Amino acid sequence: MKNLTIAIDGHASTGKSSIAKELAVKYGYIYINSGSMYRAVTLFAIENNLLKLTKTNINLFIDKLKEISINFKFNDNSLISEIYLNSRNIENEIGGMHVSKLVSEIAAIPEIRKEMVKIQRTIDRGKGVVMDGRDIGSVVFPDADLKLFLTASDSVRAKRRFEEMVKNGLEVSYEDILYNIKNRDLLDSTRSDSPLIIEKDAVVIDNSHMSINDQIDKISKLIKDKFSN
Ligand code: C5P
Repeated sequence: MKNLTIAIDGHASTGKSSIAKELAVKYGYIYINSGSMYRAVTLFAIENNLLKLTKTNINLFIDKLKEISINFKFNDNSLISEIYLNSRNIENEIGGMHVSKLVSEIAAIPEIRKEMVKIQRTIDRGKGVVMDGRDIGSVVFPDADLKLFLTASDSVRAKRRFEEMVKNGLEVSYEDILYNIKNRDLLDSTRSDSPLIIEKDAVVIDNSHMSINDQIDKISKLIKDKFSN
């Protein structure tokens, strides 16, 4: 079987990254979480007082972005490519609510999207790649071999996210998370540049009542049926 490009898009907190990571491990592909790049830029904006998004400030922001580097390094323990901002590992920092509350506004800025997509497209797809996000099947890799769109009910997503954050020692409320995921979905699907959409050739998976294993089984079957000769 050839090495595939798998695009996983979908609503906030639908477990896209867990599925992407499992698939990457199973097939020996590279896994990139594109959401972590928008989160990295948001963290950079928070730390550099760049949150007033006027036209002048956006231009300043874009100029400053040219001075920073966003890289991924594979971690043998977590089995994921972790994100670095200027050689600082920010994988854990970017999951907090301070970033989640601002990221969709930053991600709606076309100049920022352009820079991120440029980096995402430099990835060597020859070895097989799984990338998750909001515009992977529509903009980043419209020629992806397999496009998946994950969704789940609001309450299931908020509960899963809440439990995950509490497990990681973060102080959060269920209501805040529920509001945040609904708000991000709204902003992400209504922005003018690269909105979250369901591509015609995407397979939609509602995982409200599916375990990670159920989903991996379903996707592996799709891959087998479509790509093994
Ligand atoms: O995937 P994650 O939930 O971490 O993404 C955080 C935010 O980054 C999303 O809510 C969205 O605003 C933005 N994003 C995006 N395009 C992507 C990935 C993420 O706009 N490809």
